[in-house]
Amino acid sequence: MKYKRSPMEPYRIKMIEPISQTTRREREKILREVGYNVFAIPAEKVTIDLLTDSGTGAMSQDQWAALMKGDESYAGARSYYRFEASVKKIFGYRHVIPTHQGRAAERILFEALLKKGDYVPNNIHFDTTMANVLVRHGHPVNLVINEAYDPKLEIPFKGNMDPSKLERLLRQKKGRVPLVLITITNNSGGGQPVSMANLREISRICHRYQIPFFFDACRFAENAFFIKEREPGYNQKSILEIAQEMFSLADGALVSAKKDGLANIGGFITLNDEALAEKLKHLLIISEGFPTYGGLAGRDLEVIARGLEEVLDLAYLEHRINQVRYLANLLEEAGIPIFKPIGGHAVYLLADEFLPHIPRDQYPGWALTIALYRESGIRAVEVGGVMFAKKISQKGKLVFPRLEMVRLAIPRRVYTASHLEYVAEAIINLYKQRNKIRGLKIIKAREPLRHFTASFKPL
Ligand SMILES: Cc1ncc(COP(=O)(O)O)c(C=O)c1O
Repeated sequence: MKYKRSPMEPYRIKMIEPISQTTRREREKILREVGYNVFAIPAEKVTIDLLTDSGTGAMSQDQWAALMKGDESYAGARSYYRFEASVKKIFGYRHVIPTHQGRAAERILFEALLKKGDYVPNNIHFDTTMANVLVRHGHPVNLVINEAYDPKLEIPFKGNMDPSKLERLLRQKKGRVPLVLITITNNSGGGQPVSMANLREISRICHRYQIPFFFDACRFAENAFFIKEREPGYNQKSILEIAQEMFSLADGALVSAKKDGLANIGGFITLNDEALAEKLKHLLIISEGFPTYGGLAGRDLEVIARGLEEVLDLAYLEHRINQVRYLANLLEEAGIPIFKPIGGHAVYLLADEFLPHIPRDQYPGWALTIALYRESGIRAVEVGGVMFAKKISQKGKLVFPRLEMVRLAIPRRVYTASHLEYVAEAIINLYKQRNKIRGLKIIKAREPLRHFTASFKPL
C-alpha cells in the first residue's frame, strides 16, 4: 500500500533532544576506531539512529506522569498490580511475570522447557531467541511460508508459518518439540504480519499434538493493525479485540515491552499453565528478582502499564505504520531495492541487490551499514550474513541466510517526516555512488550473536 503524503504526527513535541552533526572525516575516524561495527559507535556521534526500534521510543506525558507514581516496594508493589491488570486485559492469561527485557523472558522459559537436542519451531527466530535456544543445545527451526523469502512478492501475511512444515516436524521429532513459537510481527523476515487464520491453524495443530503454543509478541499491536487492515472480517473490530482474539489462540506469550509496550526497558512472560508459572517464578528469583518486579523498578512497571494502553490507539498505529510506508515509498520511487510489502516497524533494504558487486562472504549488508554511517551519520543494522550465517563444516564453510538485508528501524514517536526525508535523500545519494562501496572481512568475532561485538577490516 502506497503512502505518499507526509504523515501528520498525532502528537506535538513538548521536549527536545539535540541531534549531533559530525563531519565525514570524523565519522571515518570513528569507524576505524570501532572496528567497523556500528554497535560500537557512541550514540552521540549518530545523526539519525535507526539501529533499532527497541527501547528507543519517546514516552508520552502520561507515561512520564505515571513514572512518578512508581511504588518501589520489594514485594507486592501497587505498580505490579497495575502492570498485571494492563497485561491481563490484552493478553488474557492467568499469570504475568515481569522480566527486565524480552531475552530474559526467553532465557527463563527455555531453561524451564528445553532439553538438550530439542527442536523449537518459529516462523523465523529473532537473533536473541535463536541464541537462547542454541545455548541450551536446542535446534531453532524456521518454518515460515516459502513466499517469505521472495523479497519482491507482495502478499498480505508474509509472516505466516507453514502448517504443513510444522506438522512434518512434529511427526518427525515426536517428543522432542517442547513448544511452538510464532513471532508477531516477524522481525527477521521483514517485519511481516501473521494472519488470524494462520494463527488459528497453528493453534489447532499445537493443540492436536498437545504442545504448548507461545507468541513472541513484542509487536503485537502492529500485527493487529495489519489484521484489521487486511484480513476479511476484522475491519470493524478494535485493535484490543483483535489482540484478545490472537492471544486466545495460544497458551502464553513472551514479550519485550521495549517495542509495543512503548517503554524504554522491560518485558514479561504471560501464560496459563500454573505449574510452569511456578517454575518460571522460581527461575526468575534466582537471576531477575522477586516475581512482582522481575528486575524492573516500580516506575518501569507503571510506564509499561500505560504504554500498553496507548499502543492500542488507532491514530497512533495508523501514523506509525504510515510513517514507515512513507520512507519506503520515497526510496522505492528512486529505484532503491527494498523488501516488499513494507513491514510494521522498519524498511528493509535488499543489500545484495543494492551492492551486487560484493559477494556474500564479503558481507554486502554490513558494508552498506558502514557506508551509510560514513556518508550521512545514519545508523542502521545488518540483518544478513554477519547476523545469521552458520558454520556447517569443520573446514568452516559458511551457510548464508536467504535474505541479505539492512534494516532501517523507526523508533516510536521520535522522528518526524523531515527526518525521514533526510534518510531517504542520504540513501538515494549513496545508491548513486554504490560502485565505490567495498566489502569487509571479519577479523574478530564471538558466537553466538557475533554481530554485536565483531570487528572488521575493509577490503
Ligand atoms: C521479535 C523479537 N523477539 C525478541 C526480542 C528481544 O527483546 P529484548 O531486546 O527486549 O531482549 C526482540 C528485540 O528486538 C525482537 O524483535
